[in-house]
Order: sequence, then structure tokens, then C-alpha cells
Amino acid sequence: MLGMVVVSVLATIVGIAISLAIDWFPPQASTAADDIDQLWDVLMTASVPIFVLVMSVAIYSVLVFRAKPGDLSDGAPIHGNTKLEIVWVTIPFIMVSVLAAYGWIVLDQIEEKQAGDTVVNVTAQQFAWRFDYPDEGKVKSNQLVLAKDRPVEFHVRTEDVLHAFWVPEFRLKTDTVPGLTTRIRVTPSRIGEYEVVCTELCGLGHSTMRQNVRVVSQQEFDTWVGEQKKEEQGQASTAGGDQAAEGKRVFTEDGCASCHSLADAESASGIGPGLDDLGDTARRMGKRHGQSPAQYVRAAIANPDASLTRDFNAGVMPTDFEKRLSPAEIDTLVKYLLSVSEGGK
Ligand code: CUA
Repeated sequence: MLGMVVVSVLATIVGIAISLAIDWFPPQASTAADDIDQLWDVLMTASVPIFVLVMSVAIYSVLVFRAKPGDLSDGAPIHGNTKLEIVWVTIPFIMVSVLAAYGWIVLDQIEEKQAGDTVVNVTAQQFAWRFDYPDEGKVKSNQLVLAKDRPVEFHVRTEDVLHAFWVPEFRLKTDTVPGLTTRIRVTPSRIGEYEVVCTELCGLGHSTMRQNVRVVSQQEFDTWVGEQKKEEQGQASTAGGDQAAEGKRVFTEDGCASCHSLADAESASGIGPGLDDLGDTARRMGKRHGQSPAQYVRAAIANPDASLTRDFNAGVMPTDFEKRLSPAEIDTLVKYLLSVSEGGK
């Protein structure tokens, strides 16, 4: 018995030391990260002794009260022990309540509204993220760029299914729910490049649903906003001028690149058919249905399940691209795809 107690105490000390020594998380890049990591350490420190106690009692019982070989008699009748039961209900109740209160306090702190915060809209869509900045004159981007020390309130929406918006370095995570706008606050505190990760299984392309986050200085952020605005104006004024660039933009920013490989757009995903020989396919398939290559590609975007190619299944590609994209965008996209693929010229 004494030996068991000594072993348990040692196991507890070693267990706590290991759990605190392990570097569980990526770098801390938001003001909330420190509080959350501290909460984690407290939870680990509280859990290890309980785990060791339960395991010690279990192992001790198995070793000491084991039936001797050949002993077929009944065990001693047990009627419970009121004192023991009060102890093992009260202590865990107090521990869990204290930890719950502590968790609540931390959550309340990190969710508190910050002075001078700015809104960033996040839109999830199979299988890409889009961001727009209503406070910066509706700047749109497929890369998340944030200014260091500037509090942000994310308004997170989805255009299709459940996704989850996660930036591990910010210790921030929230579900995107169809029909709802979820909100989450964060203050980036470390300059660097991180990743937005989708952490809710949302379809075949789930694992590819990752995008860049860049935390930069306020000055660099302002420069970036200026560039984005200029680029958007440029797009509006040269509409029709630089068709290829616009087609590539639609391809990479509106979700196509998450599933289809295309050398010109440097995408390499294998979830949907590769599009490097789309021109040949469109000519062949189009002929069969009495369509021009462009008509075939357009129909395949609008109704993907009707134009399945070998090795690919129905129901994988979203069927609402005709609604998501404007007719002009689809037109540009089709022209772009045919112009950069084998046999499309
Ligand atoms: Cu979106 Cu997983």
C-alpha cells in the first residue's frame, strides 16, 4: 500500500512536469493566446492527479484483490460507504465548478469588445475562404491581412455547408453555420504569416480549404488596402481588357482551384478532374452533344453532375456556381480555361 502511494505521488509529479514541459501549441499570435495557454496548463495540472488516482486504485485493486487460482467462492457483500461517497462527489463537484468558473472568466475576457475595433467579413464556400473589409471601403481579398495590435471582429458566414474558421496561432475557432452570422474577436499581436484552416469536415475538398493570414504593421496594412483598391478599380476600368488575368482571378478566388489542377493557375488539387487538357475534352464531348467547346464547359460548370468524367462521382462539385458567379464572370472563366488548356486554342 505504501509502495503504491509513493509510486502514485511520483507519477503525479512526473506527469505534471511532462504536461507542462511539452510545447502543445504553435506560436502565440493574439492577445488571447496567453490566457488560453495558461488555462490549458491549469487544466492539465488539475487532471493529472485525478488520472493517477483513478488508475492507481484500479491497478491496486486488480493486483491485490485478484481471486486466487481455484477460488470459486463469492466475493464479500458490500453495502456502500456513505462517507466515501460524499467525499468522491463533493471534491470533483468543487473542482469542476472552479474550473468552469475560471474558463468562463477567461472566455469573457477574450470576447470583450475592444475600443477601435474593425470588422472583417469572412465567407466560407466549398472549398475556399473570402474576406472583405467593410470599414476599408469594401476591400475584397482571398488572403486575410490584418494589422498588428488592431482589434478585429470577424463576422463569419457560409454560402453552403458547415465549415469552421480556425487560426491556430490566434487560438481562435468558430463554426460557420448556414443562415447565421457568427462573431469572434481577436487582436493579432505578432507579425508573421499563418494559416486559416477549415476544421469542420465539409466535403471532399475539406483538407484543401486553407488560406494565408498575414499580420503586418498598421502602415503596411494601409499600403495593402491602397493597393487592393487600386487593383479593384483597375479591374473595373479594364474590364474586357485583361480577360486572362480576370479569368485566373475567378479560378483561384472563387473556389475552382481548391479542387481542379491547372498548371497556369499553379493549382494541383486532385479532387476534381484536372483541367490542363480541358480543351481536348471539351471539343470531344461537345461534338458528341452538338455543343461548341465553350458551350460544353459552360454547361459543365452549371450542371456538373450531367457531365461527369471517368473516376469522378456525382455530388462532389457544388451545383450553384451559376448563382455564385455573374454571367460575365462565367464567360471570362470559360474563355480563360479554354485559352490556357491543351487543345483549347
Ligand atoms: Cu470547409 Cu472543411
